[in-house]
Formats: sequence, C-alpha cells, structure tokens
Amino acid sequence: MSKTILCIGAGYVGGPTMAMIARKCPGYRVHVVDIDADRIRAWQSDQLPIYEPGLHEVVKSCLNRNLFFSTDIARGIEEADIIFVSVNTPTKTFGQGAGMAADLQYWEKTARQIKQHSRSDKIVVEKSTLPVRTAEAMERILHSGERTVHFEVLSNPEFLAEGTAIKDLENPDRVLIGGHSTDSGRRAVAELVSIYAHWISRERILTTNVWSSELSKLAANAFLAQRISSINSLSALCERTEADVTEVARAIGMDSRIGPKFLNASVGFGGSCFKKDILNLVYLCRHYGLTEVADYWEQVVRMNEYQEDRFVRQMIASMFNTVAGKRIAVFGFAFKADTGDTRESPAIRVCRSLIEERASLVVTDPEALDNARRDLADCAGKVTFDKDPYRAAEGAHAIAVMTDWSEYKKLDFQKIYDSMSKPAFLFDGRNCLDHQRLFQTGFNVYPIGRKPLSHL
Ligand SMILES: NC(=O)c1ccc[n+]([C@@H]2O[C@H](COP(=O)([O-])OP(=O)(O)OC[C@H]3O[C@@H](n4cnc5c(N)ncnc54)[C@H](O)[C@@H]3O)[C@@H](O)[C@H]2O)c1
Repeated sequence: MSKTILCIGAGYVGGPTMAMIARKCPGYRVHVVDIDADRIRAWQSDQLPIYEPGLHEVVKSCLNRNLFFSTDIARGIEEADIIFVSVNTPTKTFGQGAGMAADLQYWEKTARQIKQHSRSDKIVVEKSTLPVRTAEAMERILHSGERTVHFEVLSNPEFLAEGTAIKDLENPDRVLIGGHSTDSGRRAVAELVSIYAHWISRERILTTNVWSSELSKLAANAFLAQRISSINSLSALCERTEADVTEVARAIGMDSRIGPKFLNASVGFGGSCFKKDILNLVYLCRHYGLTEVADYWEQVVRMNEYQEDRFVRQMIASMFNTVAGKRIAVFGFAFKADTGDTRESPAIRVCRSLIEERASLVVTDPEALDNARRDLADCAGKVTFDKDPYRAAEGAHAIAVMTDWSEYKKLDFQKIYDSMSKPAFLFDGRNCLDHQRLFQTGFNVYPIGRKPLSHL
C-alpha cells in the first residue's frame, strides 16, 4: 500500500466519498473513523447507516480490503498521511450568532485531536462545508505551541447531492481543491489531485486558493437554493393569476442562459445544507458589514419558510378552514426522494403546523420513518407512522405529498380514494402526481403554482 488516508466523520459525506476513493484507488488504505460507535458498526454491517442508491455495492466491494471503519481516532491520525475532515458543521443554537453562524466546536475539537496525535507531517483536507477563512484558523491551531510536525491544510468541498451521491462521486461536474501557493502547498494540492485523477479527467479537477474554494461551496448552495426560492415565489403569483408555474418554468428553462434544472416549484427545499450554508453566508456578510448582501441572501431562506407556511394555509383554507380532528396522511418525510435523510425537511414544519391545528397525522415514507419518529418524538399521540401508504390513507380526509418518491406515482389512487373520507383532498407539495387523473378519480387536487382541480 502506498499511502494511508484517514477520514474523520463517517456521515453522509465521509462514508460515501471514502468508499468511492477506496474503490477507485486500490493502492491506498482508506480508514474512516467516527465518535459514534453505532454508526461505525452499521458501516461494517449489511444495514448501512444511510440509504443511498448504489452505496451498498461500492462499500461491499472494498470493505476490509482497503476500506476500514473504526472508532480508533488516535491511531487513525498517527498512521495517516492524508486526513480528510468531514465532521458536521451545523448552525449554532446558542450564544453569539445563534441561528445563523456555523457551530465550529466539532471542527475545532478535531483540529486539536489531529495536533495531539500527529508524529509526522500531514495533509489535512477540509471536506466539511465551512465559513471562508476557517482553514486559516485550523492552521493556527495545528501550528500552535511546539512546531515539530508540518500540516498543510487544503480545502476540498464536497458537491455530492444526497439521493445521487454515488453517481455524483463517480462522475462529478468538477472537483475543487484549494491550497496555498507555497512549495509545500503546491505539493499537497498535486497529491490530492493525483488521488482524484484515478477516475476523474484532469480538466474537471479545478485548483484554486483556499479562500476561493471555501467560498465556492457556500456560493454553489446559495445559487441552487435561490433558484428554488425564485420559482416558488412565482408559484404564489401563478396561483393568484391562473398562470401555470410548470409552463413558466418550461418556458424560462429553455433559455440556454437559464437552463431547466432546479426549476420545479414545490413546498420548499430541505436538507442539512442549503439553509445552514446560506445562513452562514449571511452571517459572514454581516460580519464584514455588507448588510445589503446579507439581506439579499437571507431572503432565499425566508421565501422557503413562506412557501412551507403558505402550503399549510392553503390546506386549512380549502378544507373548510379547519383541520382539527381530521386525519391527514403525509406521503413522504425525507427532504427529497432516494434518501432517508429528514434534516430540515419541509415535512417537519408542515407536520408541526398541522399538529398545532389539532389535525391527527399519519406519516408514511419508504426510507425515512426512523428519522421521522425521532423528529416528531415530542408529538406522541398526535402522529402515527406506517410504512404502507395504502394503510396510511385509510379513513384520511387528505393526503399531503411531501416527498417525490417515484413509488408514489405508481400507487393505485382509485383504491386509496375509495378508502378515504369524503370529500377527499390531495395536496401535492412536489407537483409529482398526475393531477388530471386524480381529479377524475374524485380527489380535490391542490398543486403548487397551478389552478386547483376541485369538485366543490
Ligand atoms: N449531506 C450532504 O449532502 C453534504 C453535501 C456536501 C457537503 N456536506 C458537508 O459535509 C459535512 C458533513 O456532513 P454530513 O451530512 O456527512 O454530516 P453527518 O452528521 O452525517 O456526519 C458527520 C459525522 O461526524 C461525526 N463527528 C463529529 N465530531 C467528530 C469528532 N470529533 N471525531 C470523529 N467524528 C466526529 C459525527 O458523529 C457524524 O457521524 C458538513 O459540513 C456538511 O455541510 C454535506
């Protein structure tokens, strides 16, 4: 084996990225560590800790060959030549910058551990998404006190999307590596480039300075979320004017300067990254006194919250201004299809609002029910969970579609309609079903950004 790679943090990013590196670079020994022993055990088992299409095969192909999982962080650091850090960087919930700034406690703890256990020079790679200039802070921690070991810090943000992580890792639009323009910085960048070059063409591997790399990740997420908020803002206007947001999206998406992706109107975006990274950007802008820039980006998050709230208001208004005591089947709890991840899922806010209105909920999802149970643990007695969508819909007054799972398109909606209370309502928060057909079946259908199809 030529070199040892360590990854600290075995989550949605650390697990899949390291599995892909291990598979593509059989000459490297790849070791993934985490403080969470259950998570590590799951990575070594047949029940991986996260659901991601294609992940199981990739892990299986190299597990215990050149891919290893453990909780022995100290030994991992000692043995490693290159250390990726992909610990979580959630939004701070306390003190200065609460609700906005990144909580860097896990990150800093990791930096101190790396310093403590390193006996030889290392390349340290920021994989987590971090505020601009965090690498600089990390360098200061690593090089504080007695300087016996040299650390070269690189930024290598991850652009994979959950649900398509394996595809994205196998064939990324680009890999971004930021490093210093010193001799040792250039050598470290070249070393990281050579790992990715095992399967990614050199033109797709961009190298830049550390700060540009850090900011590019925040900027990419801000731009993606902004497109969703932009089309969602127009969906509200479409509902008032009888324009159809799908038609508008198609018309503008055919403009090659705009492009068709990320233009689906919906109940809103979710996931652990968009909101957190935009708020992080907003906080940074405010820190540097750029109030107008901060306000501009903050509006992307506010528009998303508005869209979630508007969805609930629409439900209540169309169900005769009350949902109290009514059974509502929530179809999907994951923040998007093909993942079990529910972090910041719009379903959370929507369900909580409906529970406040005293609705009685039944949540169904093919992969996210364990997380949903945890997210709504404080709502016992007001919500139940059922993997089977047919059972979930039985006796319900309404269905609220929260996730665009492809299996929902294949359901027998006649059978579902027959089992529901009448009048039966369907609120499609993802615009993913055949509305005309549902209407013909008897449903009162409420899409996003389009005229409702109502029998009432
Ligand atoms: N999830 C995504 O789609 C995605 C995509 C791109 C970038 N990112 C970024 O990558 C980073 C990780 O995200 P994630 O979704 O993988 O998070 P995650 O919460 O799934 O995983 C993070 C892991 O780090 C572990 N950890 C925390 N502190 C540790 C420590 N001191 N030592 C060892 N392990 C520790 C946690 O136990 C956890 O298992 C975040 O900065 C995120 O913004 C995430």
